[in-house]
Amino acid sequence: MRSPSTGTVEDSSSALFPVGRQGKYSDSTWPVGGLQMDRDPEHEPVMAAEVVALFATVPPGVVLDATVGAGGHAAALLSAYPHLGLFGIDRDPTALEIAASALASFGPRVVLHHARFTDLDRVVGAAWAAGRGHWPSSGEAAGAPCSISGALFDLGVSSMQLDRAERGFSYRRDAPLDMRMDPGASSSALDIVNGAGPDEMASWFRANGEGRLAGRIARAIVAARPIATTARLAEVVASAVPAAVRRRGHPAGRVFQAIRIAVNEESEELAAGLPATLGLLAGGGRCVVLAYHSGESRFVKQTFANAVSGGCVCPPGLPCVCGASAEFQWVFRGSRGASAAEVSVNARASSARLWAVERLGGRGDVDR
Ligand SMILES: C[S@@+](CC[C@H](N)C(=O)[O-])C[C@H]1O[C@@H](n2cnc3c(N)ncnc32)[C@H](O)[C@@H]1O
Repeated sequence: MRSPSTGTVEDSSSALFPVGRQGKYSDSTWPVGGLQMDRDPEHEPVMAAEVVALFATVPPGVVLDATVGAGGHAAALLSAYPHLGLFGIDRDPTALEIAASALASFGPRVVLHHARFTDLDRVVGAAWAAGRGHWPSSGEAAGAPCSISGALFDLGVSSMQLDRAERGFSYRRDAPLDMRMDPGASSSALDIVNGAGPDEMASWFRANGEGRLAGRIARAIVAARPIATTARLAEVVASAVPAAVRRRGHPAGRVFQAIRIAVNEESEELAAGLPATLGLLAGGGRCVVLAYHSGESRFVKQTFANAVSGGCVCPPGLPCVCGASAEFQWVFRGSRGASAAEVSVNARASSARLWAVERLGGRGDVDR
C-alpha cells in the first residue's frame, strides 16, 4: 500500500489506505498545516448542515465522498452518523494529505484514495474490499456487493487550491500558470493558454458565461503569447474588455474559471462520474451534489431528471407508454441555495446550488 501522494490514478489498489491504520497516513507522517484554515468561515464546508441532514435516512453502510478535499463535509457526516463509513477520493494528493489528518480520529471507518471521478467504477470495488470488516455493515445491508449508502460531490476547486499561490489557480496571486488539481496531470494552464486556438478558447469562455466578449478575450490572449503567469494573464484579460465591464469587478474571474474547467476536464469528469455513482447507490441511498456554476447545475439537473423519469421519452403530462421505469425520486424539487447568514460569512456559498436524489426501495423520508 502507498500514500496517495505517490499513488497514481492508474494504480488503484496500491493507493488505497484506511485512515489511521498503522504505517499509513498519520499526523506524524504527514504534518499538514492547512487544517487550521478551516476555522476561517471562508474555509468551512459549504451548506454543511443541509448536506448532513440529507444523509439522515440513508441505510447503514458506506458513503462515497467523491471530492473529499480538506475532509470538512466528511468529518461532519462521520460525526453525525456512527452507522456510516466513508470512502473519500480526490484527484489532488495534497487534499488527501489534509483529509487524512482531519479524519484520522475516525480510524478505519475512513478509506481514502487518490482517484478521479472517471476512475470511480474501477476504484469503488477495491475500496469496498479494503473497508470490509471496518465499515459499519460494509454495505451488505444494501444488497449488491459494492453498493453505497450515499454519495457527495462538492464540485470545483477548493479553498486550499485557490489560497496556495504556487498552484497557479488564482488571478489574485501571482504565480506560474498551472491550475492542475492533480499536479501529476499532463496538461496545465500554461500548456493550454499558450497552445489552444482562439476559437477553442472562445468556446470555453462562452460556455462559462462570457457572452459576446469571449472571442475578443481569446484573441487578446493569443496575441499576447507567450503568457507564463497568472498576473500576466489577468492583465491581458483586463485590457481586452471595455472599461465599463472592468468596473463591475475583475473580468479575469470567469476566464480563469473557464480555463480551470478546461485544464481539469471538469465537464467530462462529471459526465462520467455522476451517472456511474447513481448506478452504485443502494435502495434508499442518496446522491447529493453541490454545484457552483450554471454548466455544472445544468448537467446535474438533467442527469437527476433522467434518473427520476427512468429515461421516459413520453410527452410531459401524458401517461408513460414507453416502458421506462423510474428508479429514483427527487429528495426535494429543484435545487437549494445557502442561507443569507452563510453567504454573509462565506462568499463561495453564494453560488452554491444543492441537488439531491434518492434511489427507490429504501425507507427514506422525502420532502416534496
Ligand atoms: C470544493 S473542494 C471539496 C471540499 C470538501 N467537501 C471539504 O469539505 O473539504 C473540491 C475537491 O474536489 C476535488 N476534485 C474536483 N474534481 C475532481 C475529480 N474529477 N475527481 C476527484 N476529485 C476532484 C478537488 O481536487 C478538490 O479538492
